[in-house]
Amino acid sequence: MAPLPPGPRMPRAVQTVAWITRPGPFVLRAQRRFGDAFTIRIGTERPWVMLAHPDAVKQVFTGDPALLHAGKANVILRPFLGRASVLLTDGPEHMRQRKVMLPPFHGSRMAGYRDMVAEIAREHIATWPRGRRLALAPRMQSITLDVVLRVIFGVRESARVDELRPRVRGMVERIMRGSSLFMMATAGPDAIERAGVFKTARRPVDELLAQQIRERRADPGDDVLSLLLEAEHEDGSPMSEQELRDELVTLLVAGHETTATALSWAAERLVRTPGGWDALRAGGERYAEAAGKEALRLRPVVPVVLRHLQAPMTIAGIELDAGTVVAPSVFLVHRRPDVYPDPARFRPERFLGDGPQGGTYSWIPFGGGVRRCVGAAFALMELRVVLAELGRALDAAAPDAAPEHTRRRAITLVPERGAEVVLS
Ligand code: HEM
Repeated sequence: MAPLPPGPRMPRAVQTVAWITRPGPFVLRAQRRFGDAFTIRIGTERPWVMLAHPDAVKQVFTGDPALLHAGKANVILRPFLGRASVLLTDGPEHMRQRKVMLPPFHGSRMAGYRDMVAEIAREHIATWPRGRRLALAPRMQSITLDVVLRVIFGVRESARVDELRPRVRGMVERIMRGSSLFMMATAGPDAIERAGVFKTARRPVDELLAQQIRERRADPGDDVLSLLLEAEHEDGSPMSEQELRDELVTLLVAGHETTATALSWAAERLVRTPGGWDALRAGGERYAEAAGKEALRLRPVVPVVLRHLQAPMTIAGIELDAGTVVAPSVFLVHRRPDVYPDPARFRPERFLGDGPQGGTYSWIPFGGGVRRCVGAAFALMELRVVLAELGRALDAAAPDAAPEHTRRRAITLVPERGAEVVLS
């Protein structure tokens, strides 16, 4: 057996607590001590070999997908997402699903969704209270949920959106709850599915999706679901009802809270950066996009992506056995002073020029390779449009000087106080 690269020697339980409560300082300290590749031990997981250099990240993202599996790490979500989900599969099955899902999310489609997103943002922003301390995170979640319902699922009537919101939120809350994740991880997906544990959380959402699929089949629109209904696999077959249901839930779970969290961090950083909000007000969508990208750099929503080696591989000059988990550290790559001078500082201007920033393997908030986030262009469009609408409509200030620390919510890192601001 090839030895794993060295890493923190604290007991597994201590590393787990550090990873959960102080993930940033924990990996920064390990990197300082052990370099750009080190091993950490979390929970009941196999050891993770963390990779902090863009060259190593490139090797992982461009490596043979048959040897670098990603679906296994997400399999605990199967009772919610379903077997066909692009997040859970690997190999040919994964590519088959991914190929039908990519076209509706291609960059060229974004112009068609943009106005709907802007309208949703304006409707929400108009109702927000001014002049008092306000947490933006739940409000950003409402915006991104409506975007999923209207732009992705193609729900048209406002009354329907109102009816659906609580059902869908109920299911997402259930998934993200620590106790659910613990149960899913310990019992495993087979036992959970046999026992039908999450059936009641799933049913109202499944009913809604079945209805939406029927309606958009009969009367297609400009939404993602309508495009998926037209899509064909390579053999000419359409997506089955089950595939459609599983992928729609996947888009909801992968795209709703992640985008809301990125929006919340952008606001949290902008109000605590001198002149930040003024620059947003003056800078239009161009500055808004740069602020969104910089927020994703400094406060990546997903701090690490995982690949399970199916065969021995040499990465960053280190021989690794089959079964090893390699973990490109989004957080550490984004904190490299050789790529991002003064890396701890929030500076959207980094993303206004054509500098080395935002490189394929040095700006990786959406992962990479054949697993790169399907919704990356969509998420960036949402960030750009919603932040620009915020800047157009509002002044915002920080309620206090203390920056918000990160808090873990399932696999994502969110602002601990929900991105509090005072609006005027
Ligand atoms: C700021 C918001 C978002 C962030 C930070 C984010 C991040 C990520 C990351 C890190 C991955 C895994 C990549 C890898 O393993 O290399 C991923 C996968 C994925 N994301 Fe996103 N995402 C966001 C928004 C969205 C949106 C809006 C959608 C769709 C509506 C979406 C759909 C997906 C899907 C379907 C996958 C699975 C891709 C695959 O396995 O082939 N995401 N995302």
